[in-house]
Amino acid sequence: MVKATSLFFYLLLAASATITVATDHIVGGHLGWNPNFNYSLWSNNQTFFVNDLISFRYQKNIYNVFEVNKTGYENCTMDGIAGNWSSGKDFIPLDRPGMYYFLCGNGFCFSGMKVAVKVVPLSTPPPSSSHGHADDHSASPATGRLRPSLASFVAFAALWIGCRI
Ligand SMILES: *[C@@H]1O[C@H](CO)[C@@H](O)[C@H](O)[C@H]1NC(C)=O
Ligand SMILES: *[C@@H]1O[C@H](CO)[C@@H](O)[C@H](O)[C@H]1NC(C)=O
Ligand SMILES: *[C@@H]1O[C@H](CO)[C@@H](O)[C@H](O)[C@H]1NC(C)=O
Ligand SMILES: *[C@@H]1O[C@H](CO)[C@@H](O)[C@H](O)[C@H]1NC(C)=O
Ligand SMILES: *[C@@H]1O[C@H](CO)[C@@H](O)[C@H](O)[C@H]1NC(C)=O
Repeated sequence: MVKATSLFFYLLLAASATITVATDHIVGGHLGWNPNFNYSLWSNNQTFFVNDLISFRYQKNIYNVFEVNKTGYENCTMDGIAGNWSSGKDFIPLDRPGMYYFLCGNGFCFSGMKVAVKVVPLSTPPPSSSHGHADDHSASPATGRLRPSLASFVAFAALWIGCRI
């Protein structure tokens, strides 16, 4: 019984560690935030969960980051501006589900420096075919990382212990 109890708390600990992990999505990976990069391919290749971070790394005297709406994103304008960053290493929390649109000012948006990000709720594994364009099936789809809820871990632990004692 003592053993089962400590296992329970171990699983509880593991579960809380699992659910507090937030991924930092570095835009462009090691290539960072620069012109002439297809950020749609980068974005479509991963899954963004609520409370993850997106981070932009760039030369701060040349580039910057603006959050705009879809109109701004598609037309490289400041339509629907919702934020701006210029530190050269910006961490932006993705704290609600839905679409986020970022672009670079100073004309660099027209050189590809724009990125659209779809953020999904933690509890919903993303449908495997919901994002990407019809002609984009060759890119490896983001496989849904399972983030089981604390409740399911506890339920599992209780079941496991229940079977053993
Ligand atoms: C990025 O790649 C996607 C998928 O291949 C393509 O549809 C899109 O036109 C590309 N974007 C640019 C700016 O080249
Ligand atoms: C997609 O992700 C995989 C695994 O992280 C990586 O090897 C690959 O280069 C990525 N592709 C693109 C286009 O970013
Ligand atoms: C982009 O701009 C054009 C012309 O200003 C406009 O008609 C179009 O609706 C804009 N795109 C989006 C997605 O709003
Ligand atoms: C983006 O914001 C502009 C300015 O507020 C607005 O006119 C436009 O309708 C918005 N576009 C979308 C897609 O919400
Ligand atoms: C940039 O953000 C600051 C606050 O972070 C705000 O005061 C300023 O008005 C913003 N500039 C634009 C152009 O939106």
